[in-house]
Amino acid sequence: MERTYLMIKPDGVQRGLIGEIVSRFERKGLKLIGAKLMNVSMERAERHYAEHKGKDFYEMLLNFITAGPVFAMVWEGDQAVGLSRALIGKTNALEAAPGTIRSDFAIHTNYNLIHGSDSHDNAEREIGIFFSEEELVSYDKAI
Ligand code: CMP
Repeated sequence: MERTYLMIKPDGVQRGLIGEIVSRFERKGLKLIGAKLMNVSMERAERHYAEHKGKDFYEMLLNFITAGPVFAMVWEGDQAVGLSRALIGKTNALEAAPGTIRSDFAIHTNYNLIHGSDSHDNAEREIGIFFSEEELVSYDKAI
């Protein structure tokens, strides 16, 4: 069983896409074990996006992710990291496969609606930045 960190970015929240996006992961069969609407502090944003420090889009990324509330989530399931990224689609909306979230709703790489952890290790690291273990729940789920 694997966990992943997903975050609907400020553009997704402001466009009213939380329900649409969450339902895609529910329909896939992943299990939601943590969720909260929150503002991201600059300190958290820097920790979350540390691997991008120094890149030309880094400052813009920090400003964007701290500009309005995000919907932070933890999902659980077999291959949760890879399955989630398949549902999300490639970073560049032009390259995202039809039917993915970014293909269906995003037109700009900077405003691409949702972040999904790219590896098991990064998922655990990112969950630790945004959630305490007490905020995550455990329950039975069919399948
Ligand atoms: P995300 O999955 O949140 O991870 C880093 C983010 O940086 C990415 O989604 C994009 O929103 C943003 N970004 C902007 N330009 C680029 C780029 N050239 N390559 C990768 N990510 C980029």
